[in-house]
Amino acid sequence: MLKILKDDYETKVRVVLFSTNEGEEAGRFTLEIPDFRQKNPRLSVWSLQIFEQFRGRKLCNQMMVEAVEMMRKEFPRCNSAYLTVRTNNIPAIKAYEFAGFRITNTDDDNWKHLMEIILQERKE
Ligand SMILES: CC(C)(COP(=O)(O)OP(=O)(O)OC[C@H]1O[C@@H](n2cnc3c(N)ncnc32)[C@H](O)[C@@H]1OP(=O)(O)O)[C@@H](O)C(=O)NCCC(=O)NCCS
Repeated sequence: MLKILKDDYETKVRVVLFSTNEGEEAGRFTLEIPDFRQKNPRLSVWSLQIFEQFRGRKLCNQMMVEAVEMMRKEFPRCNSAYLTVRTNNIPAIKAYEFAGFRITNTDDDNWKHLMEIILQERKE
């Protein structure tokens, strides 16, 4: 389950807490909310973590599925979302792919993948 910890309209960030089905606080992430006046407003995800004692239980998979659901429902004007991840962070990459993100670019010099997801098909 996701709970909004903070919606900061000035810095344009939303901090979200994730709890297990049993109600234990197990992870968090931050969404950066774009300026909706842009042509293609895109959400970005950062500061994502599953707290140490909860890792390895597929909770990141669950958190990311719920995160994508939240993004689609609450930010319908955003066509897509993106994040960056270290190329050796296999658990994170797998969880993002599980939720529908795909690697769209790789920065070999900095060992980073750009991953993106389409949230809404554009109606033009
Ligand atoms: C990365 C992180 C969020 C993953 O959370 P998690 O809840 O432990 O991950 P999950 O249990 O949901 O596992 C996700 C996938 O990775 C796999 N996985 C987990 N640990 C793994 C490991 N050590 N090696 C390879 N695969 C692994 C799981 O099997 C699962 O894949 P599957 O569904 O195909 O079986 C967590 O380790 C973390 O918070 N790390 C520190 C902060 C961080 O790296 N954040 C991401 C920044 S982009």
